[in-house]
Amino acid sequence: MEKEIKIQFDVIPNYNQLSDIEKTLFEKAKTIREQAYAKYSNFAVGCALLLENGEIITGSNQENAAYPSGLCAERTTIFWTSANYPDVKIKKIFVIGGPKDIASSVPIPPCGGCRQAILEYEAKQKEVIEIYFAAPDGEIIKTKSVRDLLPFSFDGSFL
Ligand code: THU
Repeated sequence: MEKEIKIQFDVIPNYNQLSDIEKTLFEKAKTIREQAYAKYSNFAVGCALLLENGEIITGSNQENAAYPSGLCAERTTIFWTSANYPDVKIKKIFVIGGPKDIASSVPIPPCGGCRQAILEYEAKQKEVIEIYFAAPDGEIIKTKSVRDLLPFSFDGSFL
């Protein structure tokens, strides 16, 4: 028997269609991206999180000569946030990525490992986290929960 899973997402045509707080998050993710430590891949990713207390936390990908020891922008940012604000909920995550020094408008989705990490924090805070991802220019994809990016997800309820 064949079954289907539906996922939902919004396509926001460009930066100008974002709300004020979304514009701020977009700008902060784009700005912090410029400081990404991405000397091996030359692929720079910036991340900005909005907390329920209104604070914005930013981060970027951090690479390593031993490649697997590096970490994506999303996990760098979300792990620091949970370490420093363990009881403050995350409302939104913005991810802006693309090759360094080459203009791109293809939205860069969070990798599988980062989706799994975001899922963990949704479960921890018992509230969904809106995810936005984009290139420095062009359309922005928005989901209301990481579950739309990670069907058949594995979480602590199975353990
Ligand atoms: N990267 C991220 O920071 N986030 C993602 O979700 C996808 C990939 C980084 C990891 C690595 O430093 C570079 O992009 C190329 O994979």
